[in-house]
Formats: sequence, structure tokens, C-alpha cells
Amino acid sequence: MVQTPIYLDNHATTRCDPRVRDVMLPYFCEEFGNAASITHVFGERAKDAVEKARETIAAAVDADPREVIFTSGATESNNLAILGVGRCLPPGSHLVASSIEHPSVLEPLQKLSEEGHTVTLVRPVQNGDPQAGRVLAESVEEALKPNTRLVSIMAANNEIGSVQPIREIAALCRERGIIFHVDAVQALGKVPLRDELREVDLISLSAHKVYGPKGVGALIVRRRQAGFKIQPLIYGGGHERGLRSGTLNVPGIVGFAHAVALALADLENEMVRLQQLRNLLFHLLKEQLGERVQLNGPDLSRPDWRLPGNLNVRFPGIEGETLLLHVPELALSSGSACSSADPRPSHVLLALGLSETEARASIRVGIGRFNTEEEIRYAADVLCSAVRQLVDLQSALEGWSRGPGER
Ligand SMILES: Cc1ncc(COP(=O)(O)O)c(C=O)c1O
Repeated sequence: MVQTPIYLDNHATTRCDPRVRDVMLPYFCEEFGNAASITHVFGERAKDAVEKARETIAAAVDADPREVIFTSGATESNNLAILGVGRCLPPGSHLVASSIEHPSVLEPLQKLSEEGHTVTLVRPVQNGDPQAGRVLAESVEEALKPNTRLVSIMAANNEIGSVQPIREIAALCRERGIIFHVDAVQALGKVPLRDELREVDLISLSAHKVYGPKGVGALIVRRRQAGFKIQPLIYGGGHERGLRSGTLNVPGIVGFAHAVALALADLENEMVRLQQLRNLLFHLLKEQLGERVQLNGPDLSRPDWRLPGNLNVRFPGIEGETLLLHVPELALSSGSACSSADPRPSHVLLALGLSETEARASIRVGIGRFNTEEEIRYAADVLCSAVRQLVDLQSALEGWSRGPGER
């Protein structure tokens, strides 16, 4: 028997792994010191724990521990990267990002354009192509201008799971001395990243997408490549090399590092397992629904093109929101968590070339560490019967509205 509701929204957040919780617990009541209070043993122990965690996070992205700036999460990291660097650039600089970035990248870019910089948003490969949702290096190259100073491209998208050619884009930026920021939140612990990110200047990370706690993340600021300046968003005690003042969240940081270590230790197996579960789900939906289910985003066979646990599909003629109301046994989403209060269709699906109606007919599935094959089979059955029910209801209503003579 499966237990419902089944959590299938692992792009919005993930359950904190109990092993992560266990390493965090002592840092609430026993090891409660302030990591900046190094005049006594309480503070020293907290600082040691933070520095150990810093080493783990740095190793995950092949950085120097001094390049890790702990933050409250990736929204802050993205803001610090974009606004912090953007506000140090010469006035009228040109900035490039993709049109499928997270709002925590797009909105700071919008702010910089109001402050006098110009921004170009690069479109991904359009839906229907096996690489749909990928932002190709040649598209980024076409957008570059002599005064381009900053490029920001996410490693993996949070709605359609498209994985971007970060290494190639980094090489383009490097050749031209352009600062390169990557929002790696959805990719960390899900696909191999170390080599991809080696030439990247700024990297945003978040713990709660990788089975760690909420409210903690990091910005990696690699100073050895481009000589760039970055100004803080928060001023105060000068923590984190002056880039992010505020008492460090010691339990959160300890949990973040353990979560990353656990995810990396089992990365290859987990990638295979999640890809199998995701492909099984799509196969079961297709088998039962045929053309009534359509794939959004990249091909499912390539983990280097699409996150193994991601599925995004549309059911033509059915509203995603309505479908979700008919499947209370499943925790899914019709878009990203941050925009679920927003009535507009997903900017990511529109950027893929879908119509508003197609975008509204879509749902996102995020399969994660704690999902089982039994749950996936159950979810497929529940979804298929809800779709059939809605299709029947719709044709009954259409017959009704045509009137008795035409029925
Ligand atoms: C791609 C991406 N970037 C940034 C964020 C923001 O992360 P956080 O929740 O840590 O602020 C999210 C989370 O929704 C995300 O999916």
C-alpha cells in the first residue's frame, strides 16, 4: 500500500533527509555558539563546524573554501551575484541571461536595466526539438556585444529540467573576459557539476533542493579568474569576507554540507534510479493516454540534457490547475512554487514556444530520493483516471451546450 499524498514536487523543495537532521541537531542546544565569538570554546566549536562545512561545499564545486559565502538561500545568492556585480560595472554595461531563468535572477536584472544597464534574454531551443529548453552556447554567443560584462545562465531549469552546456558557455565568457554567473540550485547533487563549473566565476547554491534544510545556501565567488568587484546587499558585522553580514546559521550550514556530501556520494546510482522512475511514469501515461499527453522540454534519454527526476507534460484540452484539484493523492505543481500564486502561465513554457493554453495545460513532476516505483505506478494510474474523467466531463458538457437537436 502506498501512503498518500505522494510527494512529487521535489523541484519546489525536498524533504530534509533524516541523516541531515541528525547531524544538525547538536548545533541547536549543545553546540549553540556564535561562529564569530572566537574568544571562547563555544564560538570556536561553532566556527570549526562552519569551516568544515565550507570545505565540503567548496570541494563540491572545485572551489577554494575562502570562495564560499554562506547566504540565506539561492534567492539571496542570485541577488548578491547580479546586483552585487552589476552595481560595480561601468554605467550602460550589457548583461545577458536566458529567458527561462528563475525570477530571483530575472528580477534583479530588471532592476539593473532600470538603473541604466541593458539586458538581452536568450531564448532556449523551442519545444518539439530533442534539446527543447536548452540554451545553446551559440545562442549565447550571438547575444554577446563588445560591452557585455556579465552572463547568467542556470545549470538546470526548475520547471522543465533542461540542463545547460555550462562548460561551453564558460569558455565563451572566459575568452572575452566576461563575468559568468550560474544558478546551480537544481543541478547540485542531481547531475555531475564539478567539471562543468570549473571556469564559472559566481555559483548560487541552496540546501533545501538537495535534502537539506530551508533558509541556507551559498554564493561561490571565484576571484582567481575575472578580476571583478562585488558589493554586498547586507551590511553589518563584516561576516563572510564583508560580503554577507549576519550571524551564521550554524545548524543550517552543517546540514547543508552533509546534504551535499550525501547527494554526491550516491550521485551516479541515484541518477540512474530517478531516470528509470521518470521514464516509467511517462511510459505509463503514454500507454494509457496516447496523444492526450505531450512532453514539454528535452528528450528523456539524455541525463546531460534533462534532470533525471524531472517530467513536465501537458494534457491538451485540460487545465493543469483543474487536473491537480482532481488528484489530491498527489503533491504536484502546475508551475514553479514561487509563481503558484501568480495567475500568469509559466514564463518558461511560453519561452519554449508553447501557447498560453498549452502552458496552462501543463504540470510539473519532480521525482526525488524518497519516491518508490510503487508510488510512481500509483501516480500514473491516478493521473490517467483523472484525465479520462475530465475528458468525459468535457465532452458531456460540449454535447450539452450544443443543444438537444445536435447531441
Ligand atoms: C532555479 C532556482 N533558483 C533559485 C531558487 C531560489 O532558491 P531559494 O528557495 O533557496 O531561495 C530556486 C527555488 O525555487 C530555483 O529553483
